[in-house]
Amino acid sequence: MRQLRPVGIIGTGKYVPERILTNSDLEKMVETNDEWIVSRTGIKERHIAAPGQATSDLAYEAALKALESAGMKAEELDLIIVATVTPDSAFPSTACILQDKLGAKGAAAFDLSAACSGFVYSLATATGFIQNGMYNNALVIGADTLSSITDYTDRNTCVLFGDGAGAVIVGEVPEGRGFQSFDLGAEGSGGSLLNLEAGGSRLPASHQTVDDKKHFIYMNGREVFKFAVRVMGSATERVLTKAGLTKENIDLFVPHQANIRIIQSAMQRLELPPEKVVVNVDKYANTSAASIPLALVEAAEEGRMKEGDAVLMVGFGGGLTWGASVLIW
Ligand code: UT7
Repeated sequence: MRQLRPVGIIGTGKYVPERILTNSDLEKMVETNDEWIVSRTGIKERHIAAPGQATSDLAYEAALKALESAGMKAEELDLIIVATVTPDSAFPSTACILQDKLGAKGAAAFDLSAACSGFVYSLATATGFIQNGMYNNALVIGADTLSSITDYTDRNTCVLFGDGAGAVIVGEVPEGRGFQSFDLGAEGSGGSLLNLEAGGSRLPASHQTVDDKKHFIYMNGREVFKFAVRVMGSATERVLTKAGLTKENIDLFVPHQANIRIIQSAMQRLELPPEKVVVNVDKYANTSAASIPLALVEAAEEGRMKEGDAVLMVGFGGGLTWGASVLIW
């Protein structure tokens, strides 16, 4: 078999908007309470973009930090992938807007749409490009401004989401480190369980679509919950097997931060103690594509990974989709 060059993460950065929306703030907006939100989701607060602050603005701040931590200039980037479901506009892509803002002249740039699994999908995409020698350095960002598509009169969804961005630089790493395996998948038949119906070619924006609130996130929480628990288990098993590892080898588990109960069920299945699991859903809520990179970058900033540690990432979300990866730090 052809030897592929090892590819991993060589820089990290994150950004969340300043404004914090707490559960008690939400109590004043909809019929809910802190006890319900914390016990059902684990969320205490979330960060919300300022008026006029778009996804590329969040991505830009995270990208600057990632470049700095990699000791790299924007001009050295060959590729920019932004995982998002809340692009600044339908087109140009948020990645192109970012390419211009960063001054990453000459870098290829595109957005990737896989909802909360988008960051892991994007890591796999960038890794493929670098392994096959087409590019050397990629900026991969998960960024979402879910507040722009959240109905703050719907208690079923508005308590769940927040805004943020997490960025990594993907490039060649020493032998024995880097991405060991990926497991990406989709169940398109479940698309209507979590979607935003209007504004595309099927249902273009109209007065009617606005009146019908079809530009907001719809989610069947119970069904997505069941899907999440199921695929967290199966994707985790497959990605570990592909890497030639077992659950005993996991040093740090970085799950999608949607709901503490989903994370706890995965922890039990993997028999992981809390110190091996990254949880920040309490501070940021579900930030979609930004969720896994925010957790990963925060863990890196807190010094929770050391060289050679096996990091397991797993996400799930709209599509329906899932994405898992094993990374040797
Ligand atoms: O990243 C994308 C993936 N998304 C997810 O992972 C979300 C997965 N789903 C979930 O996290 C959970 O299903 C939710 C947190 C969304 C809901 O929790 P649940 O335990 O499944 O609650 P439920 O939908 O069964 O609703 C229970 C009750 C309902 O009242 P009735 O019908 O039993 O009278 C809801 O109306 O809780 C009510 N409810 C609320 N009450 C207070 C729903 N939202 C709220 C709220 N405050 N914010």
